[in-house]
Amino acid sequence: MSDPANDILHLEHAARIALRAHGQAEPNPMVGCVVLDQSGTLVGEGRTARCGGPHAERIALARAGAAARGGTLLTTLEPCSHHGRTPPCTDAILEAGISRMVYGTADPNPEASGGAALLMEKGVAVDHLPIRATDLLNEPHVHRVRTGLPWIVAKWAQTIDGRIATAKGDSRWISSARSRRLVHRERGRVDAVMTGIGTVLADDPRLTPRDARSPRRTPDRIVVDDELRTPIDCRLVSTAAETPTTIICRPDAERGDHATRLRALGVSIRSSASDEDLGDTLRSLATERNHATVLVESGGGLLGRLFRQDLVNDALVFIAPKMLGDQEAPGSMRGRAPERIADCITFEPISILPRQDDVVAWYRMPGSGT
Ligand SMILES: NC(=O)c1ccc[n+]([C@@H]2O[C@H](COP(=O)([O-])OP(=O)(O)OC[C@H]3O[C@@H](n4cnc5c(N)ncnc54)[C@H](OP(=O)(O)O)[C@@H]3O)[C@@H](O)[C@H]2O)c1
Repeated sequence: MSDPANDILHLEHAARIALRAHGQAEPNPMVGCVVLDQSGTLVGEGRTARCGGPHAERIALARAGAAARGGTLLTTLEPCSHHGRTPPCTDAILEAGISRMVYGTADPNPEASGGAALLMEKGVAVDHLPIRATDLLNEPHVHRVRTGLPWIVAKWAQTIDGRIATAKGDSRWISSARSRRLVHRERGRVDAVMTGIGTVLADDPRLTPRDARSPRRTPDRIVVDDELRTPIDCRLVSTAAETPTTIICRPDAERGDHATRLRALGVSIRSSASDEDLGDTLRSLATERNHATVLVESGGGLLGRLFRQDLVNDALVFIAPKMLGDQEAPGSMRGRAPERIADCITFEPISILPRQDDVVAWYRMPGSGT
């Protein structure tokens, strides 16, 4: 018998399990699944732990064994009904004798969808129960399938009064050592880290996950640099032979001598004719390099461009318990001049956590993933 409140608790648990695979499952969706026996006792759980590996449903069913017969399977994403890198999950659900299936998000991938309808046809009771926890988990996947764009997370560290650097451009360090380790961990879970030329010139960053204990992936680096001013001797260029590095510039800059020198050092250069093209450039880069997630670590120039183009999906903000009090010091975004508070860009807060030192705030742009 269905009990929506109980279903929600189990789906929320499945979403938490799924999230542990961030950085391993992508570009596949992160999926979590729980199996209850006939009496409603949890007898198996699992997540899709890596791209190409067994799906969450199969793992949860294998753990449940014979106890799954006549039971309920709850999964964060509609079970697949196609032969991809693994056999269809709908087969495993039918073989295990599951009598009821509850899922959070319908699969937007036309190749994999249809699992719910197929199970219903075979006599399994099916409930579609979209909840915020499963939406949050699946929005990056839905967004990628629908738009071809990577999921873009803008990260910045700011003082309480909203400054990301001093007026002279010093930003090291606003956030604590602990917060910076968290950023390195995140770098080790995304496919690319992107910055702007202003940050390259001010900070000479490497953008590698070197402070992460066991990085799950090595991110590409992307620099948005219209006039191709990236110095030959900066750290991003001197490490380009080991870590793929792409500079996006205007078409005329791409043809000059500086471009030839950068290419000789292993930097890949591609052009974007205007702000309007930045999304198309990121889309084609994502297709070629399999970028599911991109972390942006830049100043207000690039963040402003990305926000104005509606390219940002999440914001990860580290708020340090510090005040600068200088109106000349830059904030996290430039290039908008709304006259009314009603014209602000408004996020959905996902989690706001005090962490001993800084506050870590995670926001989502409404409409991402639809
Ligand atoms: N606290 C933090 O988390 C954090 C993180 C990173 C950086 N920072 C600080 O941020 C500062 C750098 O910020 P930034 O904004 O100069 O650099 P940026 O965002 O890294 O790069 C500037 C980018 O914005 C473009 N741009 C500049 N002004 C623009 C405008 N008015 N309209 C549209 N696009 C514009 C530039 O294009 P062009 O190529 O045409 O110039 C370039 O693509 C440094 O002081 C750095 O330390 C702080």
